[in-house]
Amino acid sequence: MGEMIFARMLLKGDRTEQARLRRAANEKLYCVQIATNDIEEGVSAAKLAADAGADWIDLNCGCPIYEATRRNLGSSLLRHPDKLARLVRGITAGSPLPLSVKVRIAAEGGEINVREVVSQLRDAGAAAVTIHGRTATDRYSKAADWKVIAQVVEDGVLSAHEAMRPVVPVLGNGDILTYYEARERIELSGVHGVMVGRGALTKPWIFQEFAESRAWEPTAAERIGVYRRLACYMKEHFGDDARGRKMAWYFLPWHFDFLCRYRALPESAFGEQSRRQPLMQTRFEELPDEAPPLERLLYARGPEQHEWIASTLWEADSDAAAVSKLTELAESSEWRAAGAHDANAGLSGSARSIGTAAPDETEELANIPSDDAAGGEGSKKQRRRRPEKPLRSEEEIVALRAVRAAKREATGAPPHVEGTRR
Ligand SMILES: Cc1cc2nc3c(=O)[nH]c(=O)nc-3n(C[C@H](O)[C@H](O)[C@H](O)COP(=O)(O)O)c2cc1C
Repeated sequence: MGEMIFARMLLKGDRTEQARLRRAANEKLYCVQIATNDIEEGVSAAKLAADAGADWIDLNCGCPIYEATRRNLGSSLLRHPDKLARLVRGITAGSPLPLSVKVRIAAEGGEINVREVVSQLRDAGAAAVTIHGRTATDRYSKAADWKVIAQVVEDGVLSAHEAMRPVVPVLGNGDILTYYEARERIELSGVHGVMVGRGALTKPWIFQEFAESRAWEPTAAERIGVYRRLACYMKEHFGDDARGRKMAWYFLPWHFDFLCRYRALPESAFGEQSRRQPLMQTRFEELPDEAPPLERLLYARGPEQHEWIASTLWEADSDAAAVSKLTELAESSEWRAAGAHDANAGLSGSARSIGTAAPDETEELANIPSDDAAGGEGSKKQRRRRPEKPLRSEEEIVALRAVRAAKREATGAPPHVEGTRR
């Protein structure tokens, strides 16, 4: 599924939103996700999506960011299930493509009403519903509630016996980081499938694991191969020149905020634990002291370190060269002097700025693992590093960055200016 598109901006010809319609050549199935609260707008956006080759469209009713909710879009649509059903009925009637809907279990500040919402969506003709098992208020602060997701599935199964009522496929979403968590969620909740968010950003090979029902636990060198492929895709897309690099720099160092969270979590060691709490909350497990330098480098969490790794990947002309350069870097006195050798240290207070990444980056992303919900051993350490101020959701961070990137593009300002807040 593509990134959420504001339908109104798309229809006004906004180039950023238009770019989100684009289907990659290797997409077997492609869905365009739109944010709208207007039938006509939704139908027009659906037609553009159809022209762009999408297979279906999805209505976003899960996005909790202010940019969306202040316009009565995203998760705010969950406040009035009857109005939402009218919207879905109207878009479905006029759209050349099937319409699925992505929801959270409640709107901001609202009671959990996902059972009623899905019941109405089913009657309104939604082709499928994806449920992110948190409320809009929760953002990422709690573990996803798969019991509520299971109840919705059960409602659907029961109503299948009621003549005339369609059954709507339900996809579950929240905290899936391993193939065995996906398997168990499907088995226990009865969902037709799962959607994965942060797990795919952390382990881009997660879908291969699902397909093969087994884990791939890549070595540091193999991971570098995957990460370099990502850099190469960005080169292909944005161009292998200064401008292409400038564009890629909005994404590549940022992506390491997720990639550095990779941990091998074999079922034999973590299967039991995953039943008590999602493994999404245990990604900060510390590295053993004897871990090799290259492993430690890939675990480093500082934005400066991510910038440095990204530069090395961008410049390397083969996987072997990238491994060799990063190994050199991991063993260098410069890296060590910057405190970067201590992968367990969080690095946000690194005394020296190596690259040009913004200093507030780690703060912005500090809400990713929910230690409160996990209550695990590592949680205290993580909590101490968190800022007191209200935390932004990951979607908000992405939206914020896009706005900033657009501003920079418009003003010709450089991507990141050292020492300034973005
Ligand atoms: C960086 C980022 C961008 C996201 N963008 C979207 C989006 O455009 N549309 C959407 O429906 N959800 C979006 N989400 C939410 C995810 O699809 C998903 O619902 C959420 O992260 C919970 O799943 P997870 O626990 O597997 O991460 C985004 C999440 C992240 C981390």
